[in-house]
Amino acid sequence: MHSFEELAKLFSERFETKHFPEQPANLYGPAAYFLSLGGKRIRPVMCLMANELFDDIDGDAWHAATAIELFHNFTLIHDDIMDKASLRRGMQTVHEKYGSSSALLAGDVMLVTAYDCLNKIQSSCLRKIIYVFNKTAKEVCEGQQVDMDFEQKVSVSFAEYENMILLKTSVLLACSLQLGSIIGGAGDGNQHHLFEFGKNLGLAFQVQDDYLDAFGDPAKFGKQVGGDILANKKTFLLIKAMETASGAQAKAIKDLMCSGNTDKVAQMLSIFKSCGVDQWAMELKEKYTNEAFRHLEDIAVVSPRKKPLQELAGFLVKREY
Ligand code: IPE
Ligand code: IPE
Ligand code: MG
Ligand code: MG
Ligand code: MG
Repeated sequence: MHSFEELAKLFSERFETKHFPEQPANLYGPAAYFLSLGGKRIRPVMCLMANELFDDIDGDAWHAATAIELFHNFTLIHDDIMDKASLRRGMQTVHEKYGSSSALLAGDVMLVTAYDCLNKIQSSCLRKIIYVFNKTAKEVCEGQQVDMDFEQKVSVSFAEYENMILLKTSVLLACSLQLGSIIGGAGDGNQHHLFEFGKNLGLAFQVQDDYLDAFGDPAKFGKQVGGDILANKKTFLLIKAMETASGAQAKAIKDLMCSGNTDKVAQMLSIFKSCGVDQWAMELKEKYTNEAFRHLEDIAVVSPRKKPLQELAGFLVKREY
């Protein structure tokens, strides 16, 4: 059995080898640049852990984990274009450094490279694996579109928000676990509980992401703090603030959303705090995490084998970057 740190290290050593040819340098250079920036490698580690829950790690699980991490990096390159983000993993985003057209293509070629990795899988379950992977990939696109649609909407309900983060973030974490478990020979019941564990953990993960985007430490976060506020993102912080705000606070939030005021971020954060949404974030995260742990308990393997996944869950919801 391996810990999160061990698997992240093992995975990164393999992953940081060459994925792309040299030419054309303006296509593969930006793709290689982005992969060199690292990242927490959460999703591939989840795939490997789910696989190791059932037996020693299978070679196919490494291929699936690599495909998932390539897919994730592709979504980030495109997400940063859509969110007009300048900073990622503490470094310049691909579109800022190389322009949007090269960034789009670098993302595209990364996605196709993910399929090359899936194609190396020997398991007789490959059709099921591709089905789950594609279903997830389409859901991520749906979530990303809904997220952008929300930027234009004045108000979004909590239920709409939850559905959006389920699609844009949660399902990929859940899929990572499910693919690892399929390769490990898991039955439908165990696959289901792992998926639900990942889904709820993913919701908690996105709550933490929204929280850090507003209240994170710029020295640790690696992305622009306040970026969601500037882009009028309907994060759960904003949704909850609108729900609990007084008449005057609600008007101030709406005015801020229309303003190009230089201290828009500071003013919004001050309203968030006076509405108590930072505290509420912690409670919401805990609710999702508890639900995740209920599903982890229901997986039919002896509990010592579940320890790495438990530790991973703890790390994810407390992360500062
Ligand atoms: C960022 O994911 C995108 C979200 C779904 C919030 P991560 O926080 O896992 O990004 P990296 O790979 O560690 O940079
Ligand atoms: C991104 O959500 C989810 C995907 C990339 C699919 P965010 O836009 O909140 O992610 P960050 O904060 O830029 O990492
Ligand atoms: Mg973004
Ligand atoms: Mg986004
Ligand atoms: Mg975010």
